[in-house]
Formats: sequence, structure tokens, C-alpha cells
Amino acid sequence: MRLDKFLCEMNMGSRSEVKELIRRGAVTVNGLTAKEVDCKIHENADMVCVRGQKLSYQRYFYYMLNKPQGLICATEDKMSPTVMELLAPQDRRPDLFPVGRLDKDTEGFLLLTNDGELAHRLLSPKKHVDKTYLVSIKHGLSGEEICRLEQGVDIGEERLTLPAKVLPTKAENQILLTIQEGKFHQVKRMMKAVDNEVTALRRISFGPLTLDEALQPGEYRELTEEEVKILYEA
Ligand code: URA
Repeated sequence: MRLDKFLCEMNMGSRSEVKELIRRGAVTVNGLTAKEVDCKIHENADMVCVRGQKLSYQRYFYYMLNKPQGLICATEDKMSPTVMELLAPQDRRPDLFPVGRLDKDTEGFLLLTNDGELAHRLLSPKKHVDKTYLVSIKHGLSGEEICRLEQGVDIGEERLTLPAKVLPTKAENQILLTIQEGKFHQVKRMMKAVDNEVTALRRISFGPLTLDEALQPGEYRELTEEEVKILYEA
């Protein structure tokens, strides 16, 4: 890989900024000051330092975010703040994006990554990756309504929703709903299909991973290697 590309991927600045770093002699490769911006390095074998600080190469980044209400799931937006604004400056990278969308008023588990292949797998309609939501609703559900939600309801799409799982919680007017799809406003539309209404929505799991309870709304952490592996196997 070219040295300037490596430095950009390591979040050391824009192409022109990292070129300037190299020109100023701030970058060493295996202990020798780098002279050429286009010199080739082996990102996993060569030791690259910027102002004496060693950079360890990492191609992909994965964050579990507890999305708060009021932010939209996009990389940028002219009108509303986005979830990307929750990242600390050192974690911001132009190639990070949210995997799928939660509504502005939905809270909970959101995965941020720059791994397009994993995102594609998780979002593929063929994969049927489970998503579990804690859903507060206006009225309690009857047994018959639970059956309908579990078997599939008409939300105005070509087909009924795929089989889902409903678990009442101890709280009144609250259920755990696991769905295999991710259609626009899906949970809200499913509740509407049984003449009910969502009053609060929080995603608590995504595929095999459950939201880390230590994360307050607005907080995030990097996934462990094991969690990334489990996601790939989902
Ligand atoms: N279903 C919804 O209605 N909204 C979300 O944000 C996620 C699922």
C-alpha cells in the first residue's frame, strides 16, 4: 500500500495533510525518515511512526452504539444531527456508516462500521437476521393479535410480514418483538396493522449481539474480535 494511503486510512489527515507530514519528515518507516509520499509499505509488517508514535494498522472498525432519540441514521444531513456526531474526534472516519436505519425517535442498538461486506450480509433480505425491539404500545395485545403479529400482518407491502416472535414483558403495554426483516417503519406499521400504536421503541439486539447494558444512550464502544466473528457467522 502507498504510504500516503496508509496514513489516510489510519486517520492521520486528508491526502494533502499526510503528504505535508511526510514532506516535513514527521513520518518514519522502519526507523528511516520517509521521503516519498508514494513509497510502498507492507501495512501489516512495516513499522510506521508519525512523530515517533507507532501506528498499528486496522482496516475495519466496528462500533456498537446505543442510539439516543433525536438523531438520524445517516452519514450527513443538512437538517438534523446524525449518529456520526456521537463519535469522538479520534474515532471519526469518512468511510464509517450506520448499518441500516433506526427512526429518529427510536433508541438502541446501532452498528457503525466501514466494513461494507459485513453490512451487506447483515442487511440482505435473504439472510433474515433477527432484530429484537422493546416496544411500548398504547394498548395491551390480545392473544389473537399476538398470533397475527407472529404469523404475519399486512403492512401494505406485496407480502405479509415474515413470522415474528412476541413476548410480553412484566411492564404493562410493553412487548419484546423479534422480526426478521427491516422494512421502513416496520414495527410501527405492524402495530398499526393490529390497531395499536408504538409509544416508544428501543432495539435491544441485532443478529446474535445484544446491546451492552453499560452503554447509556449516546455512548458506544468498539466490538470485540469475538463479537465481529459472531456477526460474520450470523
Ligand atoms: N421499526 C420501526 O418502526 N422503526 C424503527 O426505527 C425500527 C423498526
